[in-house]
Amino acid sequence: MPSYAVIGASRGIGLEYFRQLAARQDSTVFAVVRNPAGSAHLNVAIAGLQNVHVVEADVADYPTLEHAAREISYVTGGKLDVLIHVAANVIMKGFDDYDNMDELDAEFMVTYKTNALGPVHPITVFLPLLRIRASSTRKIVVLSAGAAESKFNLIFEHARMAAYGMSKAAALIATTKFAVKLKDEGFVAVSLNPGFVDVSGTRSASANDKDREAIAVFGDRSAAEFGATFALTSPEASVSAQLKIIDGLKPPDNGLHLTRDGAEWAPPS
Ligand SMILES: NC(=O)c1ccc[n+]([C@@H]2O[C@H](COP(=O)([O-])OP(=O)(O)OC[C@H]3O[C@@H](n4cnc5c(N)ncnc54)[C@H](OP(=O)(O)O)[C@@H]3O)[C@@H](O)[C@H]2O)c1
Repeated sequence: MPSYAVIGASRGIGLEYFRQLAARQDSTVFAVVRNPAGSAHLNVAIAGLQNVHVVEADVADYPTLEHAAREISYVTGGKLDVLIHVAANVIMKGFDDYDNMDELDAEFMVTYKTNALGPVHPITVFLPLLRIRASSTRKIVVLSAGAAESKFNLIFEHARMAAYGMSKAAALIATTKFAVKLKDEGFVAVSLNPGFVDVSGTRSASANDKDREAIAVFGDRSAAEFGATFALTSPEASVSAQLKIIDGLKPPDNGLHLTRDGAEWAPPS
């Protein structure tokens, strides 16, 4: 029975990962979320399911992840097959959207801890469980973002999402470091770009109308100018495509940065 941990499964793309994996009767799925009681969409999605577990942890708070690893280990007998890191603090602000530099610094530091160290913490704490899986490929997937790539920001004339883009760029490097470190153990660690995904259906109450509008405009423009790979899509379609990629990952894929279509990620030209 393959086991999956989806880190950041309360809403958005992570929730959809949880839904699609939980629908696989032969899988055990762990939804790792920082606030189980407040994860309203997840709590609807788990109703009636037997093969799922909700585990509390905050990716910026390492001791909570150590506790989560113990819980998962208890259920699976000490193993985990696939780690899918989705959690991120999606901040739309650019450098000019702060009242002063102290405010900017504070939000950037919090965002760095969540988005850049965020993947480092769960990968580190779940490694002993992932290592037990001796017979097949051990998989670590970290979701990436176009905003993390210089050329993407230039082409889209995208000055906003500054803390987000900078911290996701660091996450790309973190994933590559794990790929290098673990390659001799048969691991496949990849960055996977979900494309533009309309997560407004499960967005948190704190998202404002200006941000919603910006995402919609971005998605329209990307589809019109850059074609299908950059078109806004639904969580269902994006995750279905991503799972096909994850299912097929093999050791030679280790270290790649992939699109949801399975190609190596590149900015539009
Ligand atoms: N949507 C897109 O178009 C798009 C495009 C490119 C890349 N991505 C990437 O895809 C991933 C998911 O994005 P999304 O659009 O689904 O975002 P989202 O709807 O804002 O969801 C973010 C998820 O991360 C969780 N999270 C945030 N901070 C956390 C923490 N400290 N500990 C644990 N969980 C935490 C949130 O949980 P709470 O409910 O507790 O806040 C939520 O489940 C991100 O890595 C993002 O960079 C998305």
